[in-house]
Amino acid sequence: MSHGNMNLTLKVWKQKNKNEKGRFETIEAKGISPDMSFLEMFDVVNEKLINEGKEPIAFDHDCREGICGMCSMYINGQPHGPKQGVTTCQLHMRSFKDGDTIVVEPWRSAAFPVIKDLAVDRSSFDRIMAAGGFVSVNTGNVKDANNILIPKDDADTAFAAAACIGCGACVAACKNSSAMLFVSAKVSQFALLPQGQIEKQDRVLNMVRQMDEEGFGNCTNTGACEAECPKGISLENIARMNREYMGASFTQNK
Ligand code: SF4
Ligand code: FES
Repeated sequence: MSHGNMNLTLKVWKQKNKNEKGRFETIEAKGISPDMSFLEMFDVVNEKLINEGKEPIAFDHDCREGICGMCSMYINGQPHGPKQGVTTCQLHMRSFKDGDTIVVEPWRSAAFPVIKDLAVDRSSFDRIMAAGGFVSVNTGNVKDANNILIPKDDADTAFAAAACIGCGACVAACKNSSAMLFVSAKVSQFALLPQGQIEKQDRVLNMVRQMDEEGFGNCTNTGACEAECPKGISLENIARMNREYMGASFTQNK
């Protein structure tokens, strides 16, 4: 089945840098194929803008395969747009109709300052990860490492938590700008595996401290994060992290 190309109107957030005030700009996107990804649509629009001597739309991307978590933006008020379980780079233009107006904005969170237009600075996430430190693995002894038995359920849950790509949609979706879903996914990924046990208590305490320092808000269990996460990270991770955190605080206060 073939679909005709579409003409769309974009209302895109334009902002020179984090200190300048931003504003919406109306940009026409003409002749867009429904098979294009959202980012390919931007490429077409940007090529035209550049040819006309205008500034292209600044946006982040790297893998374009749903792996790197860079392509963060609000599309019509939803992180990563209207489709569940996909990142912006995996969103296809067939999700829209000819003649649609599409509103595109950067993440809105004090902990993710705008760099330019739709590109935000997510280094707060990197600093939380760094605060979590490393995992002790005896690299000199492969045989022993392979002999560690991991219960299947724990391995599956750790694997599911490891799917988090650090995109920040959870923070963007949350009215409190809480980073709990992200941090809890990263804590769970290690807390469930025997290789992560040695630093387990310090890890959760340090990561939560860094999260608070970065200016992320408190979790009030609205569940908006889980609903908007492109990787299906479960709220159960937050409950697990709270248990880990309380256990670690208790031990370290003794
Ligand atoms: S938990 Fe989901 S929404 Fe949050 S950073 Fe990870 S992948 Fe993105
Ligand atoms: S560009 Fe890497 S997840 Fe979208």
